[in-house]
Parts: sequence; structure tokens; C-alpha cells
Amino acid sequence: MDIRDIEELTEQTLAELAGAADLGAVEALRVKTIGRNGRLPELMKGLKDVPAADKPAMGQALNSFKTAVTAAVNERKAALEAASKSAQADAFDLSLPGRWPRRGRLHPIQQLIDRTSGIFRRMGFTVADGPDVETEYYNFDALNTPADHVSRDLADTFYLPGGLLLRTQTSAVQARYMESHPPPVRIVCPGRCYRRDTTDATHSANFHQIEGLYVDEKVSLADLKGDIDHFARELMGPGVKSRFRTHFFPFTEPSVEVDFSCHMCAGQGCRVCKQSGWIEIMGAGMVDPHVFQMAGYDPEAVTGYAFGMGIERLAMILFGIDDIRRLYENDVRYLAQF
Ligand code: PHE
Repeated sequence: MDIRDIEELTEQTLAELAGAADLGAVEALRVKTIGRNGRLPELMKGLKDVPAADKPAMGQALNSFKTAVTAAVNERKAALEAASKSAQADAFDLSLPGRWPRRGRLHPIQQLIDRTSGIFRRMGFTVADGPDVETEYYNFDALNTPADHVSRDLADTFYLPGGLLLRTQTSAVQARYMESHPPPVRIVCPGRCYRRDTTDATHSANFHQIEGLYVDEKVSLADLKGDIDHFARELMGPGVKSRFRTHFFPFTEPSVEVDFSCHMCAGQGCRVCKQSGWIEIMGAGMVDPHVFQMAGYDPEAVTGYAFGMGIERLAMILFGIDDIRRLYENDVRYLAQF
């Protein structure tokens, strides 16, 4: 090993250091060259065999090797550290607001199903269910609506083979439920219904209703009025009242249509209630004794009330939605506001 070799070694080490990709590589080079068991101590040991005349020059060459490599190691480490710090700074700007995950929401129809059935659940009702593809019997006959009854025309639907149809009203669940459960009964049944309606701003061939049925000894029209009044306040606000108008349904006697006083103008008359102060909400009545008979109940022993209302209509009234079709287009930008 002579001075030329040491100069070459210095050059080579400096080149390797300049190309070291990370702090680990720099450290490995340092250990291998100027470390305690590296190349430099080894060469120092060999110094004693060098002829005396060459010793000072050789010693000086080894010293410059050490100085140059030490400086290069420190420089490279500092450069790598600075680079990694600025990479981190690019990745995290801690002054920026956080990125929130987008939260989903329930569809307005589901919200109204939950709210309405929640109000009745707190009044002691349970939630019952029935099939969308219903028998003609439960949808019509068992509800006092025989095949030749005129009101079948108003609720035309798809008829399927085997006496089946797409149910036109959740009232079908009433008949079903009474057949398999003895009184007392207190149920609400939310679900999808189907009718031969031409779609426009307020009609859809498929929509949702929620049905209620309360049967026990001595249930009266006063119970219906009181419970509906409570429901009106819970759903629309404390100042909202209900009123009954006489009506006809084949399966209730007497039958009524129920209006709520307008929650927007407190009954003064506005755009929402079309200046009338009232909004039509549901059909209701006292269960017809013949319906009890067909379900196997004794009409002398029990009485009951039933009601049914459209979920879409409630959602439109509460949220101020002007067209029923908006509820089915499922444009998230529109629905996310409710
Ligand atoms: N099923 C009736 C309708 O769809 C509503 C209703 C339910 C009326 C229960 C009276 C009792 O119009």
C-alpha cells in the first residue's frame, strides 16, 4: 500500500458516500472505512512496517483520508436528513383542516317510517309486517271488499296467477295479523304498496304506507281521536291539532279522513296548506264488525280502530319536497339535505 493507493481509496470512498441512498448506507460506509475495526486502523497498524523515510508522508496521507471521509460522512448525513424532513413536511401540512369521512344519512322515506313507528312504539304498539305480494283475500275480501265492490276499481293493481296481487294498502296486514293473534292487538305496519297510478308530482305507482290497528275491549272513537292528536303533536309540533271529516272505507264504520292543522302557518292559511289551514294526512275509522268476524274475533266482545297514511306524503309535507319523484331519483346531492 503506497500513497497513491490511499488517494485512490479516498476518492472511491467519497464517491460511494455521495451515492449512499440513506442514513443506513452512510453509516455502513463509515464503519467500513474509519470505524474502530475499519480500513483506517488497519492501515495505521501497517505504518510500523513502512520505511522511516516514507513514514511522515504516509501518515499525512492517512490523516487526510480520515478528515476527508469524516467530513463527507457528516455532510451526506445532513443532506439525507434535510431531504427526509422536507418530504415529511410535504406529506403533512398540519395547518390544514382535517379530512372528514363523508357521513351517510337515512333516506327521507326511511326517516319517516322510523319516526312514525317510533311514536306509536312509545305508545305501546309493536311493528308487524306482511308480504308485498299478497293474496286477493287479505288485500280485499277479508277487509269487507268483495270482488264486485266498487272500491276495488279505485285501487287497481297487478294481479298475479294463483289469487295473488301486489298489495294496494298495508291494511292487508290487519286481516293477516288478527287471524293469527288473539286480541288485544296494538300494531303498526309500515311497508310498500302498489297501485295503477300514473306518475305525476303527487302520485307514484309504488309508494309506502304505515297502518295502525288497536283492538281491545271498549276501544272507542275517542281513543282514536286522542291517540291521533298525540301523534300529530309528536310528529309535526306541539301546536298541531287534528280534525275528523266523515268518509267511507269498506273495512271501517264509521270512517273518517284525518287532517292536521298546518304546521307551517298554525292554521292561518299558507302555500303549504293551500290557504285552507289544514292538511289531509290519513284515513281511519272503527274496525267494521264484519272484518272482526272474518278474522275470527267476536265483534260483541271487542272493538277497535284502524288508520293508514302515506309515508311519502308525510315526508313531502315535513321536508317541503315539491315532487314525489324526487324521493325515487336517489340523487344524493338532493337527498343529503334532509
Ligand atoms: N287503507 C286505506 C287507504 O289506503 C287507509 C285506511 C287504513 C283507512 C285503515 C281506514 C283504516 O286509503
